[in-house]
Amino acid sequence: MVAAALVLGACGGGVSQDADLVAGKEAFIERCGSCHVLERAGTQGKAGPSLDAAFSRSLIDGFNRQGVAGVVLEQILNPARLPPDHPAYMPPDLVTGQMAENVAAYVAYATSRPGEDEGLLAEAGQSDFPPGSGGAIFADGTQQAQACGQCHTLSEAGTQATIGPSLDEALQGESPEEIRQDIVKPDAEIAQGFSAGVMPSNYEQTLSEEELNRLVEFLAEVSGGGGGGQGG
Ligand code: HEC
Ligand code: HEC
Repeated sequence: MVAAALVLGACGGGVSQDADLVAGKEAFIERCGSCHVLERAGTQGKAGPSLDAAFSRSLIDGFNRQGVAGVVLEQILNPARLPPDHPAYMPPDLVTGQMAENVAAYVAYATSRPGEDEGLLAEAGQSDFPPGSGGAIFADGTQQAQACGQCHTLSEAGTQATIGPSLDEALQGESPEEIRQDIVKPDAEIAQGFSAGVMPSNYEQTLSEEELNRLVEFLAEVSGGGGGGQGG
């Protein structure tokens, strides 16, 4: 990987300077965040290495942002071809073309400086739900808790991830109590076609009781199981 960075740096190839960081951040949250920690993007996936840790080190070692972007682009376009059940598996073709460059540029940007994103970048990838609401907890997560929407499709929340079952279907007819159990004890019952150990099992710790209540209420309402006068 060190060699790749040097080559890309030397020929100036890889990621173009005018990559779209806002689009890159949105795509990162959607396609990469379920497996990687990247603090500025607020993602907390654990299947792959923390990108903050991976690249703060390279920057200390003297790579510039362009060099890091080149390394990330190379990883996106050519992850090791491993079987999907291998622990080091990263799927190919998550993003392609200009969008792959945008994502690589954003990762390089995000790992090259301390602090938080501002302006348009701060809003990128965030839902329209009021901060702290059940919908926001689902779609955006919290400081401690990984966003449900990074793994689950739920049309009402505008999320489309497929690492876990689609909640448009899975939540049909579930009571608030059942939904709560699914969240705090994800492996008590494994959804067909999915594996145990993927969904975080510590939401009871990472979400406060208040947050958990708001989340369950939101899910019960959108799935029609909340008994809250929406009618049909
Ligand atoms: C399904 C989980 C998964 C997804 C989704 C995923 N990755 Fe990875 N990624 C991994 C794993 C596992 C590794 C470690 C691979 C290895 O050791 O060869 C990795 C490695 C990397 C590395 C190298 C880090 C290092 O320490 O050298 C980068 C960069 C990276 N991924 C970026 C991305 C980007 C950008 C995306 C989205 C386009 C993405 N990943 C999506 C699982 C994932
Ligand atoms: C890292 C990915 C990931 C995250 C984050 C995640 N889940 Fe899951 N979830 C899964 C997987 C995989 C399954 C299927 C395996 C299982 O049942 O444990 C699942 C199962 C479920 C089920 C049961 C579905 C069924 O078919 O019965 C519900 C409900 C659910 N998740 C809700 C949530 C909520 C709400 C959150 C956020 C608080 C969340 N999940 C966060 C991956 C995830």
